Parts: sequence; structure tokens; C-alpha cells
Amino acid sequence: MQNVTKVTRGEKLYEGKANTIYATDNEFLLELESTNRISAGNGEKRDVVEGKGLTNNAISTALFKLFEQNGIPTHYVCEGSNEFSKVVRKAKMIPLEVIGRFIAAGSFCKRYNIPTGKVFKDMTFELSYKDDSLGDPFISETAAAYGLEIVSEESLYDIEYYTYNIGMCAQNFFKEFGLTLVDFKVEFGIDCETGELILCDEFSPDTCRLWDKYGNSYDKDVFRKDLGNVSETYKALLNIVQENK
Ligand code: TMP
Repeated sequence: MQNVTKVTRGEKLYEGKANTIYATDNEFLLELESTNRISAGNGEKRDVVEGKGLTNNAISTALFKLFEQNGIPTHYVCEGSNEFSKVVRKAKMIPLEVIGRFIAAGSFCKRYNIPTGKVFKDMTFELSYKDDSLGDPFISETAAAYGLEIVSEESLYDIEYYTYNIGMCAQNFFKEFGLTLVDFKVEFGIDCETGELILCDEFSPDTCRLWDKYGNSYDKDVFRKDLGNVSETYKALLNIVQENK
């Protein structure tokens, strides 16, 4: 694996709900651009939020660097060609959404009919099979590894171990800024060059819940539940993180 500090952006390969992926002049590297696009409810609710791409790229980059320092291999390589983008390792994505929770919120409360805010004894861990057409259904570890065979037993073990450590690192990171990490979603892939399991996608206010001490949300719930100005919320989060650095 070379130590890359700069690549040249190539053609657009894929436009996701929130991120756009570009090829680069290195066959094992891609450029991932965080856009201002936002969506919820499997893409049913959509909008464009000024400043979101910048916030998500900055926060996700800071966290991925922290995860690397804590022994979690990630796809992050270096800064991209603009302030919304980063260079990442090319990976074959494992079609699993891995959710860690510290406090009851969102679908957990609906599913078990409990009020929002119950603090868990320890981090909980859930898996969903990532398939929009099926509505990302829940999947057990054995169904994922032995039934659908979408992940190896060894990777699953590492995914659980890394996700716990990701949760702990991110919780401490946001605590320094007076924010509580409620829950989060992460995705993993297999590095196309090395075959190693790596953390991919992003860790941003789009993919986690963050509350301040008054219970105000600094994340996509502001969009999901029409709680206020989404652009101002994302900018406020970036300010909190940058001013307290
Ligand atoms: P949930 O309460 O809707 O299950 O979401 C739990 C956490 O995972 C929350 O921080 C939002 C995040 N998440 C995503 O980023 N993408 C998804 O598709 C889902 C279902 C959740």
C-alpha cells in the first residue's frame, strides 16, 4: 500500500443519496464527495441543505482519523480536491448497516414501544441487510454469515469488535463538545487491494444522533421530524466542533 497524499480526480462513478463517488488516477483509490443532498424514509423525503457537504466531510474526516489512531482500519487516505471531498480506498461493500445505540431513540422506541431517552447499560448492536427494495430488513448474524453468505464469520467478528470501539471513540469525541452520542450507523467493506476489512462510508450527523444537554438534536432528526432549520443546525454543529478544537 503506497503512502498517497494526492490523486487526480477522474470520471463520476456513482451518485448516492448523499455522496458522489469519482474514479482517480490510482486504480485502488476513489474520491468521495459529501454533497448537500439530504434524504429520509428510504429517499421519500428529499432536500438540499446548504453547508451540509462541508460539515459532513469535516466531521467524518476528523472521526475516521481518530478511529485509525485507535486501531480501526478505515478507507480514509487523504484530503480530496475540494473541502467537500476526501480520497478513500476502493472497497467491495458488505451490504450490512451496522447500528450501535447508547440511548433509546428512533426505530428502537417504535419497535419496543418505549419512551425516547432510556440510557442503555452498554452499547447495543444491530444489523440490517442493506437493500432499499426490501426496506433494509433486520438480519441476524447467522443469517448474514451462513444464510445469505454476505459476510464471512471472521469479518462479522471484527465488525462487532470495531463497531464497539467506534462507538466508544465517537462518544468520547462528542462528549468533549458537550454533545451526547445517542446512536449511529456504520458500513464496512473489503479493501480491493489488500483484502482487509475496513470502515467505509461516513460517520456524520446524517448517520448518527447527537443531543446537547437540553435535548436539542444536532443531526438529521431535524430534517426527519421538521424540528427547525437544517442548514443552521449542521453549521452550528461544525462551529461547536471547530471552535472547541
Ligand atoms: P433508527 O433509529 O432509525 O434505526 O436509526 C439508528 C441510527 O442509525 C440513527 O443515528 C440513524 C442511523 N441510520 C442511518 O444512518 N441510515 C439508515 O438507513 C438507518 C435506518 C439509520
